[in-house]
Amino acid sequence: MYQGTLIFATGNANKVKEVQALVGNSIAVKSLHDLNYFDELSETHDTLEGNALEKAQFIFEKFGENCFSEDTGLEVEALNGEPGVYSARYAGPDKGAAENMDLLLEKLQGKTNRRARFRTVISLIINGTEHRFEGIAEGYILEARKGSAGFGYDPIFQPDGYDKSFAEMTLEEKAPISHRGKAVKQLIEFLKLF
Ligand code: IMP
Repeated sequence: MYQGTLIFATGNANKVKEVQALVGNSIAVKSLHDLNYFDELSETHDTLEGNALEKAQFIFEKFGENCFSEDTGLEVEALNGEPGVYSARYAGPDKGAAENMDLLLEKLQGKTNRRARFRTVISLIINGTEHRFEGIAEGYILEARKGSAGFGYDPIFQPDGYDKSFAEMTLEEKAPISHRGKAVKQLIEFLKLF
């Protein structure tokens, strides 16, 4: 089992809490805020892998501590993987989830193939070496919004095997089948064996 501290290169306290609860007490998961770092991390690559590594590498070099970061995108088959790495800012830099969903629904109008997947990439750096993990949730884009829980594209994404969208699920239902949940599970399995 990996012992000691691990920095999660994010300012999102909820994400840190979630991972801390899963890894148990032998690892202390710290956020960037715990290190008094409040700036936005740059994401200059056009792949999830590139951005995840960029963020983890920057923090490893800055603080000299083992760390990991994650990057997530929604990849729509009929749009050649769009919005992908640009999911958060699909409709523009100062637009939100509502505008992003509107744009996606508009682009899919008249298309029969609505297959899509969420993909999360985690980049872990231990003693300077990168280890990468991936989690995928397969499903499709609905014709219209359903449900109000969750965030981002949740109301228009329905995972395979369910007749409800991510936004109609509780956190407990969504976490184990979600892209992020699956990627974190892989990370934890690796840390257990480390
Ligand atoms: P991040 O890398 O976790 O910040 O995710 C990037 C973007 O992908 C978010 O701003 C959302 O638009 C979208 N996204 C990521 N995860 C989810 C999810 O679980 N449900 C819906 N949208 C998500």
